[in-house]
Amino acid sequence: MSNHRLFESTRLGRLPLGNRLAVAPMTRVSAGADGLVTDQMIEYYRGFAEGGFGLVITEGLYTDRVYSQGYQGQPGLTCQAQGESWKPLNQALHAAGARSIAQLMHAGALSQFNAFSSDTAGPSAIQPRGQQMSFYDGVGSYALPRAMTVSDIDTAIRGFADAALLAQAAGFDGVEIHGANGYLLDQFLSVSTNARTDAYGGRPENRVRLICEVIQAVRHVTAKDFVVGVRISQTKVNDDQHRWPEAEAAAATIFSTIAQAGADYIHTTEPDAAAPAFEGSDSLASLAARFGGVPVIANGGVEAGDQALRLVQEQGAALVALGKAALANPDWARRVCEGSELRGFDFALLAPRADLENAQRYFTERSAGGQVESTL
Ligand SMILES: Cc1cc2nc3c(=O)[nH]c(=O)nc-3n(C[C@H](O)[C@H](O)[C@H](O)COP(=O)(O)O)c2cc1C
Repeated sequence: MSNHRLFESTRLGRLPLGNRLAVAPMTRVSAGADGLVTDQMIEYYRGFAEGGFGLVITEGLYTDRVYSQGYQGQPGLTCQAQGESWKPLNQALHAAGARSIAQLMHAGALSQFNAFSSDTAGPSAIQPRGQQMSFYDGVGSYALPRAMTVSDIDTAIRGFADAALLAQAAGFDGVEIHGANGYLLDQFLSVSTNARTDAYGGRPENRVRLICEVIQAVRHVTAKDFVVGVRISQTKVNDDQHRWPEAEAAAATIFSTIAQAGADYIHTTEPDAAAPAFEGSDSLASLAARFGGVPVIANGGVEAGDQALRLVQEQGAALVALGKAALANPDWARRVCEGSELRGFDFALLAPRADLENAQRYFTERSAGGQVESTL
């Protein structure tokens, strides 16, 4: 099966892209203590652009100096200096032929470290399920969050808009609003974490309200050709079984209102991008394409070129984003285009800490042992 469709040029909003392959956002907890980009991060991201990916989506960047930060070593977009530090990275990506999107992330109740606050906040005072992630320095249970007031919500919205402005000034081609994986905006979307009785709780129309207000606020301050996307999942980093109780009716409301609010694209992520979203239904990517009517980036579980191609041909994906397979093969796009062999992903690359130091060590050791032929 020819995979030439993966290498067709395409568009996200008004942004032209060289092919349909994107690097998925991946937190690497490798920024300076002040949330600034380092030279090591520039080289890491440049590797994906040189490896043939048409689009690079950054790891989730915290958006304010109140409750948004999630991890120690997480980069931010909350001041001039942080914004400036992304400029050389964007120049490097553009020079290598890729486009760049900054993922804007508010961790909400899943925050494991926050230099600006000693407590956490979420839609409701509900203890998050599961344990903090140890490869991001987390230990034990998550803190019990404080229920956000309407004023807290306004502050969070303003944080996303201010961060988007900084992203635009730093030379990014767009931003992706992180509404997936259990972080703040997804906490609002999910009945297991949102017990509010105001306009932000209850029916899917209310639960998706905050995401739409963030999209509108970001749209309001950025240029018309600046791409604004949204990432959505049902599963979460701390709950891999979660499903919207209203099933396809929720998908219809969520995806159509997000598109109406002005999103240029919807990025769906699930462990297996092609799996039915609900019993007997289509995949989440396919539902997003049907109900949203905007380009969809599909992510989850793609290792080989033919899997990516099927997402485009059968699941309505405009682009396919790769996470772990891209970590193992920063040049995945080139390898698939040339028909070269792909390396398998190994969790040792992210252990004990999911940072770039560890990955560098992993590749260096294996390359010395003749097991891999290149370093990050
Ligand atoms: C180390 C690591 C860090 C991640 N960080 C983020 C993140 O910052 N934002 C996000 O939306 N998803 C994040 N993810 C999820 C990935 O984007 C992706 O959805 C997930 O790995 C499944 O796709 P895959 O099967 O292609 O790896 C992360 C995944 C990994 C492995």
